Amino acid sequence: MPYETILTETRGQVGLVQLNRPKALNALSSLLMRELMEALESFDNDPGVGAMVISGNQRAFAAGADVKEMSGASAVEMLRRDIIATFDRIQRIKKPVIAAVSGFCLGGGCELAMSCDMIVASETARFGQPEINLGIIPGAGGTQRLTRAVGKALAMEIILNNRILSALDAERFGLVNRVVPVERFLGEALALASEVAARAPLAVRLAKEVINQAFETSLREGLADERRLFYLLFASQDQKEGMAAFNEKRPPTWKGE
Ligand code: HXC
Repeated sequence: MPYETILTETRGQVGLVQLNRPKALNALSSLLMRELMEALESFDNDPGVGAMVISGNQRAFAAGADVKEMSGASAVEMLRRDIIATFDRIQRIKKPVIAAVSGFCLGGGCELAMSCDMIVASETARFGQPEINLGIIPGAGGTQRLTRAVGKALAMEIILNNRILSALDAERFGLVNRVVPVERFLGEALALASEVAARAPLAVRLAKEVINQAFETSLREGLADERRLFYLLFASQDQKEGMAAFNEKRPPTWKGE
């Protein structure tokens, strides 16, 4: 399906979505968010796809929600549009999603990257929540996900005082998985996605689900969920195949069954 604000393609088992509003530094308009979620959901339902990558371009992953679209809006209009609800849909994607981030990754852009399961950053990536400069606060998870990722002290500084994190700082504070030279950020994210996509699909899906659970529940409940899913996987063909392959010293062939 042709989109106006994103480009999509499949590379092997990886679904790639590129945000494509370069003149606006990939500002997240309502249309872009709708198209992004549609594309991700369609990859999630495609049995040929095992993982996804969201990227921007070298200059910007995304410089935030579209300020021009929001500036004249009333509270009621903002509520009616509810662009933030589209962020919730990312939580329901079952396959792993990796953000490939270069350049500006600000406001809603940083929140989008943090909604993904892993982040590969180029050396030029800059992470921040500059909403305070606009007289607002983050609205799509910045106060919660950033605080969980980097801790309270640094989150306070980033959100209250617009501290911008370099890629290396973001790596040091645990916000991103790895930092690579700018020419390699997309290739590296695609390679990581394709490695994960080649793994046992049910185990990947359940592992993602229960890791995310760690942010929602008590340790006791999280451990109980983990144990149930661990035992459940012994009902899968892939568990039999994985352990047989280990015993027979051969590579496994996953079926996702
Ligand atoms: C709309 C944006 C934009 C944005 C940049 N542009 N960010 N348009 N919304 N968030 C547009 C500019 O208006 C400009 O268009 C073009 O992109 C290039 O930007 P410049 O400012 O000329 O580039 P530069 O001088 O390099 O500065 C880059 C920048 C700056 C530091 C990233 O653009 C900036 O501060 N942007 C806003 C960042 C921000 O406040 N983000 C948070 C938004 S609120 P024209 O047409 O003028 O050439 C938010 C809330 C999320 O995200 C809530 C949940 C959804």
